[in-house]
Amino acid sequence: MSPQETLASASLTSSSNDDSIELGRRAAAALARLKQEFREGRGPRFLHMTHARDDLPTLEREAEALRARFRHLVVIGTGGSSLGAQAIAGALAPGRVSGGYGLSFLDNVDPEAVTRALDALDLDTTGFLAISKSGTTAETLALSFAVLDRLQKGRATDHVRFVVEPGDSPMRRLAARLGASVLDHDPNLGGRFSVLSLVGLLPALFLGLDARGLRAGAAEAMARTFDAGDVLPPPAEAAARLVALAGTHGIGTHVLMTYGDALEPFGLWWRQLVGESLGKDGKGITPVTARGTTDQHSQLQLYLAGPADKFFTVLSATAPAVEPRFGRGLADALGVAYLGGQSLGSLFAAEAEATARSLLEYGRPVRRLTLDTTDARTLGGLFMQFMLETVITADLLGVNAFDQPAVEHGKRLVIEMLGGVKS
Ligand code: PA5
Repeated sequence: MSPQETLASASLTSSSNDDSIELGRRAAAALARLKQEFREGRGPRFLHMTHARDDLPTLEREAEALRARFRHLVVIGTGGSSLGAQAIAGALAPGRVSGGYGLSFLDNVDPEAVTRALDALDLDTTGFLAISKSGTTAETLALSFAVLDRLQKGRATDHVRFVVEPGDSPMRRLAARLGASVLDHDPNLGGRFSVLSLVGLLPALFLGLDARGLRAGAAEAMARTFDAGDVLPPPAEAAARLVALAGTHGIGTHVLMTYGDALEPFGLWWRQLVGESLGKDGKGITPVTARGTTDQHSQLQLYLAGPADKFFTVLSATAPAVEPRFGRGLADALGVAYLGGQSLGSLFAAEAEATARSLLEYGRPVRRLTLDTTDARTLGGLFMQFMLETVITADLLGVNAFDQPAVEHGKRLVIEMLGGVKS
């Protein structure tokens, strides 16, 4: 099923319609502006990535060269320079392994975890891709140093590649010192909106995944949103609803509950997108991720009967019907006849549905998204749906979706604390 049918079939219901007409009108206007800007070749860069094709042959060649040399690729980077690739690999390559190639991520400077991760690698067959838009992020530089420390001298040139925006930066200088290859990060593309650029696609191509399908799915979702006519399309409708609920009901938390471990990294990508894009000027919507079914036994009590301050999206993928069914005899004998003839997949689907229904029956605002397939096109559409939703929400809140001034403050403090120059 295409993302269009999937997303169009998603219902968005709420306990309140307050302000929604006015916010719907403003969301439609924000969407119209985005569309106009896009048609004029302006506007957010991530919209234009959907139609970019020129870069793909280069990326495919780069990926082929990496695959010819290595069996495993470690992506070094943090935030928007890592989470998109994690989301793609998680959803499309279970276990982050595909066709004999593996992908892993160094995105945290926890020394113990880094040492363990590096110890586990076969350095002869492992390549490293260090990604930092700014080329200045201390964590990514430090992780690169840790990797270089492991590689024998002379090996770094061959084993490490960099993605960084043009212009002088510590990471550019490092690449030049090593004589290592560098690919340009688009300077107009913010980290958390970069999933459809080389940042997400090069690691995906290393695993042999369908980068063109990801972009095509995103382009289709964008076209459906832009060409919805008089109907408020899902990203604009959800943005209006979220802002209405936040304004009139104090519902300032958005819980994304994913059913399917493959979708968990997508949830983390989404959490960063919403958190960093909207949390500024005293405004924002707090994104929370939850894992179905596990968190039904951890968080659901709170969600149903605790403070009514949350909006819910229940996202699930239809499980392929490959697993065995539970025997009726055993189920009957144990007094759990309802499990007889069922499978993990049918139980999983029922649990997702039951969670969404319970939330609704407890009067919680809930949206249900069901993916019939988890392929590159569907995933690309989902990325676009949530990027558009976030940008329109930012417009309605009156904040700039594309900066993160408070994070920059923290980055400066780290430099100061380590005795670097205060900037
Ligand atoms: O979305 C963003 O802009 C941030 O999360 C960045 O991706 C993150 O801070 C890493 O920055 P950089 O890619 O410059 O190393």
